[in-house]
Amino acid sequence: MDSESAFFETNATSGTVGQPLSRIDGRAKVTGAAKYSAEYNRLPGLVHAVLKTSDVAKGRVTSIDTSAAQREPGVLAIFTHQNLPKPALTPATKEGREAMGPSAQMTFLPLQSDQIFYAAQPVAVVVADTLEHAQQAAAKLRVTIAPETPIASYQDAKAQLFNPYKDYNGGVQGVRGKAAEAFAAAPVQLTATYTHATNHHNPMEPGATVAHWEAADRLTVYDTVQGVAWHQQALSAYLGLPQDHVRVITKYLGGGFGGKSAIWPHTVLAALAAKAIGRPVKLVLTRPQMFTSMGHREDQQQTLRVGASKEGKLLALLHEKTSTTSPWDNYAETNANIVEMLYACPAFEATTKLSRANVMTATWMRAPGESPGSFAIESAMDDLAAQLGIDPIEIRLRNYADKDPSTGKPWSSKSLKACYQRGAELFGWNKRNPKNGVTRDGNMLVGYGMATGSYPVHNGQGNARVRLYADGHAVVQAGATDIGTGTYTIITQVAADCLGIAPEKVRFELGDSALPTTILSGGSMGAGTYASSVYVAVQDLWQKLTKVAVLDAKSPLFRAKPADVEVVQGRLQLKANPSKGEDFAALMKRSNLTDLEGSGLGRYGAGYELAQARATANGKSDDAGRDDPGQHAMHSFGAHFCEVHVDPELGTVRVTKWVSVIAGGRILNPKTARSQIMGGAIMGIGAALMEQTVRDPNLARYTNASLADYHVPVNADIPDMRVEFIDEHDPYINAMGVKGIGEVSIVGTMAAVGNAIFHATGRRLRDLPMTPNKVLAALRQPA
Ligand code: MOS
Repeated sequence: MDSESAFFETNATSGTVGQPLSRIDGRAKVTGAAKYSAEYNRLPGLVHAVLKTSDVAKGRVTSIDTSAAQREPGVLAIFTHQNLPKPALTPATKEGREAMGPSAQMTFLPLQSDQIFYAAQPVAVVVADTLEHAQQAAAKLRVTIAPETPIASYQDAKAQLFNPYKDYNGGVQGVRGKAAEAFAAAPVQLTATYTHATNHHNPMEPGATVAHWEAADRLTVYDTVQGVAWHQQALSAYLGLPQDHVRVITKYLGGGFGGKSAIWPHTVLAALAAKAIGRPVKLVLTRPQMFTSMGHREDQQQTLRVGASKEGKLLALLHEKTSTTSPWDNYAETNANIVEMLYACPAFEATTKLSRANVMTATWMRAPGESPGSFAIESAMDDLAAQLGIDPIEIRLRNYADKDPSTGKPWSSKSLKACYQRGAELFGWNKRNPKNGVTRDGNMLVGYGMATGSYPVHNGQGNARVRLYADGHAVVQAGATDIGTGTYTIITQVAADCLGIAPEKVRFELGDSALPTTILSGGSMGAGTYASSVYVAVQDLWQKLTKVAVLDAKSPLFRAKPADVEVVQGRLQLKANPSKGEDFAALMKRSNLTDLEGSGLGRYGAGYELAQARATANGKSDDAGRDDPGQHAMHSFGAHFCEVHVDPELGTVRVTKWVSVIAGGRILNPKTARSQIMGGAIMGIGAALMEQTVRDPNLARYTNASLADYHVPVNADIPDMRVEFIDEHDPYINAMGVKGIGEVSIVGTMAAVGNAIFHATGRRLRDLPMTPNKVLAALRQPA
């Protein structure tokens, strides 16, 4: 048997996977029935907490005067570093970090001492009977801080750069060949520096925690998190509770983009406050606090050196990144990965430098590393093309990587050429005048740009449970989250097809750590992991039911060998003679089984489910001779095409046309998938043209921590977008062939915009965001 996925052998015509189903949670969302974390308002005795934060970025709390605040009506408690109960563990210790797992990304918890490390660091938690009372009391609270001179960023004159190498996973980059020598010898050399402003995730739904101690040693938290299991693990360690005594519930999310992956201080502070006062506590971050409470994409600079032949073949790539990190953690997104893997190039080297500054720890933000890294390599490829008079697509084809340059492994699948071809066709790339700065529409300078995107298939694993009822409906459960992108819908589709029932007959329950543990919605792993584990769980269920059938004298399958039985769209039948068999419902009813449960551990990115599913179904694996999936490199790919109109007098850039063509393995639902790609591309257009959070160089305080001052694209900024998928059947990823598309959507998009501006104006902008002042300044320079 070849290695095409088992799912589509048995469910080829059952038809709901791959269909553009509308979101099954859509009605609940638009009618307000969908309950978000801040909306658990009916808990008995619920009270409200607000954070009082520091105005200065560095210093020490010298005095706290609570007297006026205490006199305010409704005040129940004011917690500061002097009286907040101590957590059992914090991630400041190695023991704490190990117990907390991957979500303890920022190792600092405020309110443990008088020290202030970053602007808007919480200095008090004020709890009152109403939100307004808590806000009023917080306003009356007097906290005096002796300020010290902060460091604002890696660009600060006092910044001390260091190389973290072994301290974080991006520090050591895969070195191949002799990059410096190859660069020096290259006939064509390009060196350029790219900068990226601090960006914030700005999900529509702010961080919110409702902490409810159901007993002295049992906590339920309604929280806005991308992964309930990660959160449960970290919180239980913070609080010194067994993991199953902490329950985390996240039924709906209004976005996250990475910012809701790690556990952040407000959640821990709300839980500690709730315990201390013995009532459920609700703490919702304000929009300004969203800029100082849940991480950000770090401000950074990359220098890329490219050596090439006169024919445009890459000979050397040297990448250097410098960025800002917090006083405690060596976090930096790993930009070099995509520079290393995107094109065939014999020599590569990367280094990373960090500077500590008075800012909280940065965090994962949509395609961490790949997104800014692609801006560097994809701008440089465009420069190289222009310098050598080669079409931008052609230069990418000349450097096409037929195997993974990072590991030398063959790709599990790669349809990037098809993405280029289809994208060019949809966009009308052949109408592009190869000369820069000559295409006009009235007064406007018109430019066409394109760029490549790619994102790795990270390994994920998780459990799912499927309970099938004899009346033909099913309940599917996993401790997954729907970040807003359609998890409820796509997993319902997968379960329906696996079971051979209609999607209306499936209820998918997620968002609760009491459900089977699975991966977070992050790293583009959710769809593939959840789908695969549901597939495996259904195989487990069929295996149990097959045993029932072969022992049942009334079954057409009586005394058949279980390995000779297959299940096709809910019908158990003999492989050799499909007419001999029966529907699961008939069998279950006759056997007095009102329902039956299957469970499974799905593993993703390792090609594990197929073998496991076969072993489960047949009692043995028949994949012994199959290529080892671990010997393949797994990535999604895509190509983005952008048209801009640049106003030469105002310097404004308007994106007037957009095409994204993505190859991400099996597309479970083209409607929700299309929204994912549009969302990622819009976020990339935002980072390209407007998004930047500015820290005051002297005070290290954000000057634009609001949605009035931090600009994100609105509908009027975005043209009609064309999104297409290349149909890709990847036999190695997992039983479902799903690669994940949440992040490949943004990779390359900033470069596509920058390349279009270059084509329109003949000016290369390398400082993000490319705001009108920078465009005008560039236009004043000679081309
Ligand atoms: Mo994402 S940055 O893995 O939520």
